Amino acid sequence: MCGIFGYVTDKEEALGPILIAAAERLTYRGYDSVGAATIHHGKIDLRKDTGKVGEVAAKYNIAEMRGQRGITQLRWATFGEPSQVNSQPHLDSDGDMVGAHNGNVVNNVELREQFMAEGMTVRSQNDGETCVHAVERYINKGYQFIDAIRLAYGDLQGDYTFVIGRADDDKLYAFKKGSGMVVGLGEGFTCVSSDLPSILPLTRNVIRPQDGEIVTLWADRVEVRSVKDGKLIDRQPELVTETMDAVQKGGYPHFMLKEIHEQAQVARELLHLLDGSPDVAPLVEKMKKARHLYLIGCGTSYHAASVGAVYFAQLAGRAAIPVLAPQFIAQYAPAVGHEDVGIFVSQSGETKDVLNALEAAEKHGMACFGLANVVGSTLTKATSFCLPLCCGYEISVPATKTFTNQVVTFLYLAYRLAGKDTAELARIPDLMDQTLDMVGPQIEAIAKDINTWNDMYCLGYGATYPIALEGALKLKEITYAHCEGMLSTEFKHGPLSAVSQGYPILFAAGPEDVPLIISGINEVKVRGARTIVIAQEDPRLRANGDDLVALPPTDPQVNALLAVLPLQLLSYHMSVMRGFDPDFPRNLSKTLTVD
Ligand code: G6P
Repeated sequence: MCGIFGYVTDKEEALGPILIAAAERLTYRGYDSVGAATIHHGKIDLRKDTGKVGEVAAKYNIAEMRGQRGITQLRWATFGEPSQVNSQPHLDSDGDMVGAHNGNVVNNVELREQFMAEGMTVRSQNDGETCVHAVERYINKGYQFIDAIRLAYGDLQGDYTFVIGRADDDKLYAFKKGSGMVVGLGEGFTCVSSDLPSILPLTRNVIRPQDGEIVTLWADRVEVRSVKDGKLIDRQPELVTETMDAVQKGGYPHFMLKEIHEQAQVARELLHLLDGSPDVAPLVEKMKKARHLYLIGCGTSYHAASVGAVYFAQLAGRAAIPVLAPQFIAQYAPAVGHEDVGIFVSQSGETKDVLNALEAAEKHGMACFGLANVVGSTLTKATSFCLPLCCGYEISVPATKTFTNQVVTFLYLAYRLAGKDTAELARIPDLMDQTLDMVGPQIEAIAKDINTWNDMYCLGYGATYPIALEGALKLKEITYAHCEGMLSTEFKHGPLSAVSQGYPILFAAGPEDVPLIISGINEVKVRGARTIVIAQEDPRLRANGDDLVALPPTDPQVNALLAVLPLQLLSYHMSVMRGFDPDFPRNLSKTLTVD
């Protein structure tokens, strides 16, 4: 997730140290490139490159940069690989405007082509540059700056926040569309950022503009206007009293809980991105024509691949083979060839097991594509093309938002394979938020009830089978209890002997599988198990299970996606109740670069 920071002062200052310090405070969002621009005596000084804040600042001596206005940006690559030219901020064609954004402009490719056709100098693939040219286009047509920004806002589709300044002007301008933005008001300066941590050490006096609002920043005041009609909006400053740590965690006690609650927003952004991605159509074509289609990953990413395989079969009649990466090498690589397609799924894009499998597949000529969160990672570079997961940095070791966005991507691809209208998927983010609201207190109570147990099962069937595997993995990762994920119908073939009085068994159920799940519930209930069912409201499930954790009503595929949310929350609460830190569980690492 990129981060931006803009600063306006009433005197010429050494802005470099202020920009570096602000950039440092944005690093927790994740990034691969750093840039800074200052406006000094009507001239723009721009320095940027890939690398860590300290490295780029030292290499380009950012500390010496002076001026009255400054912008810094940390880039998390989505459009265009991490490189100096794709780093932000960006200049307009003549170099007298400079701007940077965070978020994604989903019609980036089309707009870049239009700008080139209109004679503008487009230097990079990055959508931050597109934002600058979108304003330039209307300046060239003779519009006032604020009107050019309003018109640019209308052209730039997606979720983003953007800040821009002109060489011959004493202000900065910023606008917000679906991504975070906070404005700070200090003594002799104002500032704007993607979020609070970069602002807090400077001032606790802030304004929070809403989507569709443009902010003009002078050194001593700010003005908020509506994009729609250009009219002034009265937004009063508020005083922030939270600690820095609390602010970085978005007010949540742990990053995991914050990331669980970010899932709807990142899913929304991902759906916009997929709608505008030129890579989806060729990938779908390859998948259609493939002799065999393999979905390859490890850990949580493997579970997402397994959900994907169910979606492809159920919605598009396309068989896919989900496989753990090391097993792919042993079991499938010797048999694959040019006619086969593999999608390699990884949050980090650096998991050695996955990269080994990719190497084995490529040796046999298989067509290899990727699905990764970290753009610029080895997987994104080594595959023909790699769809980004668009989640920003996931700090907590247990994967949550990257899992749900992997599943959303597979659902999107299944819709495209089936020729179904992907607009139907726009309901998913709201359903995710609704689910978290509905299940929150109940899950906390259940966590309290079953927390003395160090052994349990999580069962599912069809699309919820891999969800049960993922729920069990989350519980194992952060509660240190043993929880086995299993196909519900397999439980009677052996594990049933583990059941004793009060033994917790979780069921994740789809709306079409209720009779089957009821058999499973009763099989274990008569032997004393405590049954917790995660499913849509159904009187039959309510009558048979001990607890029904009700999900909003929807189709079986989206139901499976929603069913993982209570399982994430359950493992989170149990971990905290046990006195563990769910963000950094013992013995585990977020990225495993070893065999
Ligand atoms: C590690 C992490 C897991 C993750 C797995 C695969 O084991 O602890 O949470 O699911 O690697 O990681 P990837 O980055 O490839 O998705």
